[in-house]
Amino acid sequence: MSQAIDGLASEELLRRVIAVTTTTDMEALLATLPIVSENDSSFDATRAADTWNPGHLHWMPVGGDRGNAGRIKLANHPVNPLAERIVNGMEALIELHRTRELNLNSHAAPPESPRAAVGRYFGLPALDQIPKIEDKAERARLWGIAREIARGLRLKLSTVRIKGQPSFTIMIEDDGIGQSADMVHRTLLSLGSTTKGDKPYMIGLFGQGGSSAFSISRYSWVLSRRAPEALGDRKDGLGWSVIKQVFPRGRRDDYFAYLAGAPDGRVLAFEAAAADAVGMAHGTRFAHIGCDFQGVGGSSVTRNLFPALNHVLFNPMLPYELYAGRDTADPMWGNAYRLSNVKLRNSTAAVSLDKTFPPQQVTTR
Ligand SMILES: Nc1ncnc2c1ncn2[C@@H]1O[C@H](COP(=O)(O)OP(=O)(O)OP(=O)(O)O)[C@@H](O)[C@H]1O
Ligand SMILES: [Mg+2]
Repeated sequence: MSQAIDGLASEELLRRVIAVTTTTDMEALLATLPIVSENDSSFDATRAADTWNPGHLHWMPVGGDRGNAGRIKLANHPVNPLAERIVNGMEALIELHRTRELNLNSHAAPPESPRAAVGRYFGLPALDQIPKIEDKAERARLWGIAREIARGLRLKLSTVRIKGQPSFTIMIEDDGIGQSADMVHRTLLSLGSTTKGDKPYMIGLFGQGGSSAFSISRYSWVLSRRAPEALGDRKDGLGWSVIKQVFPRGRRDDYFAYLAGAPDGRVLAFEAAAADAVGMAHGTRFAHIGCDFQGVGGSSVTRNLFPALNHVLFNPMLPYELYAGRDTADPMWGNAYRLSNVKLRNSTAAVSLDKTFPPQQVTTR
């Protein structure tokens, strides 16, 4: 079992993982863990069971695919992977409600679309419709519901200076359905496989979107805990791993790897009690550390995130929160909402939207 590695399931280690927000922190953490180096040729991920060094963590390719770099690097602009992660978070919130519904009635028909799911489970119309509602009390009621939902999905940007240069970290946290520890490598760290293909109320399809965030990050960490009502026979606990881009010595073919705790690719897990102690009841958290915004640095990254996300997620299924370098949240509703906002319409000043983000490539799925 992966948990058998001494000392790697303690609450103390969990607190250290959560505290990692910079590349320096991450390198310090990795230095304390028993990890077989990616340059150690005694381990071969394609023959993991035969070459595994017991009691150690090993770098395994994301998606089990040594040639994963091409697909992970597909995102054309750094904000797109962040939007992918946010959409995954919305889907995780919806999926939790769908599971609760099925637990009550296993024959309940699925919602026909993501919007229908949001209507059924959260009582919300498309967000851009809210400002158009004439009845003020009803408008305020829906706004209140939406504001509360937004607290369940958070994107947090922080900046530190390392050797004088700004270094960005993005955390994406959702209080959704989560994944059990033994499924993390087959979902959050997989490539080209999805759990959404048979669900008309989901958007995701390719099993690809979320992983693109690794391409803009020097390091990432992930924590995920399945909601109790969706656990079934699986063990409760908090799966965790670290992801990095590997440049093997003497080779040109880099790839993305995660820390595995067992030869079958499973990640390590903290006990449920440790997850409770840090306030993670269920859901998923990703930290993307040392983010590269394609050479853009300084305060423009912080300033542009609000308009960029509102642009890319124009009329999002669910609202979310943005913490752009500070402790207070901007609730994010998308530019469609902002365009139909009565306050903006009636204002004599600054009626134009602050879209400072470069044009986006539009694709249809
Ligand atoms: N926040 C999350 N909470 C729970 N599970 C998640 C979360 N994000 C991703 N997953 C799981 O990981 C899988 C892969 O996510 P990914 O975004 O790469 O693909 P997808 O959403 O299925 O499809 P697409 O590539 O179209 O986004 C999902 O199918 C889902 O099972
Ligand atoms: Mg996705």
